[in-house]
Amino acid sequence: MSTKRDAIPSSRWPAIQFTVNGESRTVHVPPMKRLLDVLREDLHLTGTKEGCGEGECGSCAVRMNDELVNSCLVPVLQAEGADIQTVEGLALDAELHPLQQAFLHHGGAQCGICTPGMLMAAAQLLAHTPHPNTTEIREALAGNLCRCTGFMHIFESVQAAADAQNAQPAEEHTMEQTHHAR
Ligand code: FES
Ligand code: FES
Repeated sequence: MSTKRDAIPSSRWPAIQFTVNGESRTVHVPPMKRLLDVLREDLHLTGTKEGCGEGECGSCAVRMNDELVNSCLVPVLQAEGADIQTVEGLALDAELHPLQQAFLHHGGAQCGICTPGMLMAAAQLLAHTPHPNTTEIREALAGNLCRCTGFMHIFESVQAAADAQNAQPAEEHTMEQTHHAR
């Protein structure tokens, strides 16, 4: 008799439902599967990156119920009913998000592994602190590591995005509305 357990067909796992970038999604996966892997493997949202896989680097950061979380530490079961935003949810149609534009223009990204997590941490900051000072920007990104840029260009990018957002007329969309409009 085999000592191996038979693999459970994916359709027999209980349904777990949540919203990603404004769309309702349902997955049938092991409940302890990492949210990071569900996003990348099951939903094919490969923008979210794995760095350390241990909650230390922030590369896998996504916004969940208006909090920044490291998706490598979140069992997908915890995402049941949640509202999740990934880096794919930042751009609006063909228009890059102001943060993405700023990272491009100010050299905030080099190899790109840390970039999705940096963008999500910055989006979380600007959603609640539209006029951040340098200290607030540094504190907001303190959980995100970058091996390439030396951080200064990233901080400049976030400041530039905040300035660009604040220069827009009030009736134009804000960064929060960019997400929820999708
Ligand atoms: S991959 Fe999740 S924190 Fe590093
Ligand atoms: S751009 Fe390479 S790790 Fe940040």
